[in-house]
Amino acid sequence: MRKRRFSRSNVVRGQSEACPRHPLETPKLTPRDSQADTLRLSYSGALQFFYSHTVPLVGIEAIRAAQGLIAGQVHRTPVFSSRSLSEATGLDIVLKAENLQKTGSFKPRGALVHLAHLSEAEKRPGVITVSAGNHAQGLAYAARVHGIACTVVMPAAANPRKAQAARAYGAEVVQFGNISEIFDHCRRIQEQRGLTFVHPFDHPDIIAGQGTVGLELVEQAPDLDAVVVPIGGGGLIAGIAAAVRALSPKAKVYGVEPEGAAAMRRSLDAGKPVHLEKTETMADGLAAPFAGENTFEHVRDLVQDVVLVTETAIAEALLFILERAKLVVEPAGAAGVAALLSKALPLAPGNRVAVVLSGGNLDPARLRQLLA
Ligand SMILES: Cc1ncc(COP(=O)(O)O)c(C=O)c1O
Repeated sequence: MRKRRFSRSNVVRGQSEACPRHPLETPKLTPRDSQADTLRLSYSGALQFFYSHTVPLVGIEAIRAAQGLIAGQVHRTPVFSSRSLSEATGLDIVLKAENLQKTGSFKPRGALVHLAHLSEAEKRPGVITVSAGNHAQGLAYAARVHGIACTVVMPAAANPRKAQAARAYGAEVVQFGNISEIFDHCRRIQEQRGLTFVHPFDHPDIIAGQGTVGLELVEQAPDLDAVVVPIGGGGLIAGIAAAVRALSPKAKVYGVEPEGAAAMRRSLDAGKPVHLEKTETMADGLAAPFAGENTFEHVRDLVQDVVLVTETAIAEALLFILERAKLVVEPAGAAGVAALLSKALPLAPGNRVAVVLSGGNLDPARLRQLLA
């Protein structure tokens, strides 16, 4: 059983001056009826409530339930061993290929779980989200599966292929400002149109859905010493850590962030989720300007450490994976391998390590640039 630092409580506290929250991070907590080990959150649309610091972690039963819910709607992605990567690092490495997932990243997992739990009243007006690109595609795909209208707000400079793909899944794409500005813009549209907000990472359903990656991994690659996961807002690592720590307690989970977008690292150092003034990285999927309240708690309690990688290390890892493992990954998807190649993690020679290749939506223009 997982250790919790705090007792479980469904307490909702009033707005706090000590910890100001962005409106889109302040869902109102309402008790969940179907799963005892998570809470159901619904976005209140106003800065009236914020999470207490006693939010329960997502449990393995919620992740198993998520796996059942999305069966047949996502791929069980393969794992590959990589001799060249193992030789280069002195480790025994397996790659979990979420770059081969539907929509090109792990994102549909959480989105499908979240939409499956919405009420008819929440579905009717349609859903809206913010995204650098992969959550946009994941939610657009999930919305199509569920027959729900979908709007995504993306930065003006988002990868055009990701915007195009979200449109192709039927979403209305609104491009606006930068990654920090899209949150306010999303809120305006959400309020005007009465849409249902789907958080890109900080919701128990999203975490449970992303946790199905960890569930598959422990079945596909038993006896792991470590699992390495890229971090944006933290939904992916929160879910994977919840699954891996429950089923394979010997395995340590490590997070990786770009130096220019280290929201989770800074949050751990500060002891609470923090906002970054700006983020700068080619790994657009990892450029979340803040760590989630839920995801922060999972990482603090379940993750061994979060390390940072340089842009050069990400670029080298991407090309290494392309050339040696014959897999196309985007910069965010290469961050875990970047940490291993730069020896940023405290692993012992021969350790059996799984790395999550979290996405493969590589912009051809970026590839040309990296090959130049
Ligand atoms: C390819 C890729 N990897 C990793 C992440 C990080 O996921 P999370 O925000 O859940 O930490 C993202 C998020 O968009 C992504 O697109």
